[in-house]
Amino acid sequence: MDKKKILITGAAGFIGSHVARLFVNKYPEYEIYNLDKLTYAGNLENLKDIDNNSNYKFILGDIVDSVFVTNLFREHNFDGVIHLAAESHVDRSIENPMDFIMTNIVGTVNLLNAAREIWKDDNKDKRFYHVSTDEVYGSLGMEGFFYEDTPYDPHSPYSASKASSDHLVRAYHDTYGMPIIISNCSNNYGPNQFPEKLIPLFINNIRNNKSLPVYGKGENIRDWLYVKDHAVAIDVIYHGGKIGDTFNIGGHNEWTNIDLIRVICKVMDKKLGRVNGSSEELITFVTDRAGHDLRYAIDSQKLQNELGWKPSLQFEEGIEITVDWYINNQEWLDNVTSGKYQKYYDKMYGNR
Ligand code: NAD
Ligand code: TYD
Repeated sequence: MDKKKILITGAAGFIGSHVARLFVNKYPEYEIYNLDKLTYAGNLENLKDIDNNSNYKFILGDIVDSVFVTNLFREHNFDGVIHLAAESHVDRSIENPMDFIMTNIVGTVNLLNAAREIWKDDNKDKRFYHVSTDEVYGSLGMEGFFYEDTPYDPHSPYSASKASSDHLVRAYHDTYGMPIIISNCSNNYGPNQFPEKLIPLFINNIRNNKSLPVYGKGENIRDWLYVKDHAVAIDVIYHGGKIGDTFNIGGHNEWTNIDLIRVICKVMDKKLGRVNGSSEELITFVTDRAGHDLRYAIDSQKLQNELGWKPSLQFEEGIEITVDWYINNQEWLDNVTSGKYQKYYDKMYGNR
């Protein structure tokens, strides 16, 4: 029997690389295709341990290019899509919203159109899994949680572009019968995250004795989930979720930014053998982010009750593992911050 072909978009990025690794190792009966444009956030070094696996293939390409995407689907007739490719950083979306509109909205519609054309009406065994964020729900006060039916209320160009793509994915289900599933996850942390997001940025800055820019008073709250737990949730939902359904994924692990930063400082002092308290001296309060959402908190009971998923790691354990990973992989950090990682493609694929 032919192997099932699964297209994972954005698998050279942070979460996508963990999802691709999980699928490549767990499902030798699948062929995993990683479609990635290798923007600044795409780093094939993230996947060097699975690069030579016979059930993994990398495809360089842009989901905004509709002709390319359609031809790719015609060539491979994928059985499933797990769509993670996106512009993902809120601060960049404030500086340059257009990249977010193109990749997150137009790119998603290109994938939907190509899948629809190839699958036609014979799509009952297919899956189009759209990976989204809790930021589409907007900002909570100090009470309450985001549920799957919480109305959308995005505030940044990033979250508005993700909300728009979620609506379009649902519209393709309702209008054309596309076999879609969506999940909305809280903030992820863990190995391989680009050091522009809070946790790896601050680990890298502490390592280099650079200041730690805390937006506003550091009172904003995020719900943090270890990235490998997100990857497991995606596996569980991809295989067990009902077509047309939505699942919230979260860690029940809320931290104000400033408390979280103090934990990182403490763990870094310990790991680097520095005097306890020395990293905290790097904290600098800076102008708040525009439109900064106060609080995100996910209720993931539906996923836990219906599909039996739950986070495997306590935060204290996850943050130690994460700090250890960045300290043990300083070359990865140096390659990313110097831009050297972008040469990896030429080295690995240049003469293939
Ligand atoms: P990331 O920025 O680390 O990686 C994005 C990947 O997409 C990169 O490899 C990049 O090269 C690729 N890409 C970007 N534009 C592309 C294009 N036009 N064509 C093809 N590939 C392109 O992102 P991430 O943090 O791993 O997030 C992955 C997905 O999960 C996103 O859809 C994001 O919205 C969602 N999400 C992220 C978080 C989080 O905390 N990071 C939380 C919830 C949901
Ligand atoms: P971030 O990692 O960018 O994720 P998101 O904005 O998607 O939640 O930021 C997490 C929180 O940390 C958010 O409240 C903004 C704050 N933050 C800082 O205070 N300083 C920083 O340098 C960064 C990058 C983020």
